[in-house]
Amino acid sequence: MDHDHITSARQLSRADIETVLDRARSIADDPSAFADRHPDALLGLLFFEPSTRTKMSFSAAIKRLGGDIVDMGPVDSSSVKKGESLADTVRVIEGYADALVLRHPSEGSAGMASEFVDVPLINGGDGAGQHPTQTLLDLYTINENAGLDDITVGIMGDLKYGRTVHSLAHALTNFDVRQEFISPDSLSLPRKVRYDLTDSGVEVGEHTALSAVLDRLDVLYVTRIQKERFPDESEYRAVAGEYQIDAGTLADAADDLTVMHPLPRVDEIAYDVDDTDHARYFQQAHNGVPVRMALLDVLLGGAR
Ligand code: NCD
Repeated sequence: MDHDHITSARQLSRADIETVLDRARSIADDPSAFADRHPDALLGLLFFEPSTRTKMSFSAAIKRLGGDIVDMGPVDSSSVKKGESLADTVRVIEGYADALVLRHPSEGSAGMASEFVDVPLINGGDGAGQHPTQTLLDLYTINENAGLDDITVGIMGDLKYGRTVHSLAHALTNFDVRQEFISPDSLSLPRKVRYDLTDSGVEVGEHTALSAVLDRLDVLYVTRIQKERFPDESEYRAVAGEYQIDAGTLADAADDLTVMHPLPRVDEIAYDVDDTDHARYFQQAHNGVPVRMALLDVLLGGAR
């Protein structure tokens, strides 16, 4: 993989994705073989927004490679509170670490910050923009459960503000995958993402009801309404609660439908789905460790 930084899924070619997925499979098969791969590596964590999975699985990943973290900690107890710019913050922290993971509420922030540093900078989510490492673990999970060719993936929920959706939609254009988008009109895919998909020649459908496509899907990727990105609370309340599934909803689905969710879920997937053979969202979250280990190994120069 020939990238200094990982800021958007748009930059990932099929070969890049396969490099990471293949290495993640080797790691999952024999984690001990990678335990001392990067004994001196330090990963800088800069999280300006809440995170459980991304932050903890990156921490677990670098530690399982033999390295460690340096964590900026909560924004409230950092110099950001004193008015330090993001550009200055990353320039300082690159002196303490061999790679950086940045999560920030502003779309485009990771791309901007990457211009100020020489160590690899990984986008851990930039506002309603992109979340490319979530996409790598999503692709790994799809590949394990349905394969990545000649399948139909339905993506449902908040397609407007959901950064995991934007990244996944871009990355799937590298494969023979039909994409079906399901959302209320007010939360449909941003025009710029739709143009990119059309440009790449993939088959794309847009629907307001899951029932229009459910029986054709191999994968259903459910997302949370991104409450924190709604300009006003009443706009959020108007759509909150839509696009929920339960075990009954899935009665019309293929027996081998894989249901995914980047998590956290609020009420989009009822708990009774957890007990069905469709549920893969916890496995998906766990895949974050081998996949992020693989990405870090590649970026830190672990040739094999
Ligand atoms: C996602 C995010 O932060 O974009 N969470 C995650 O990293 N798994 C999804 C979300 O918050 O809805």
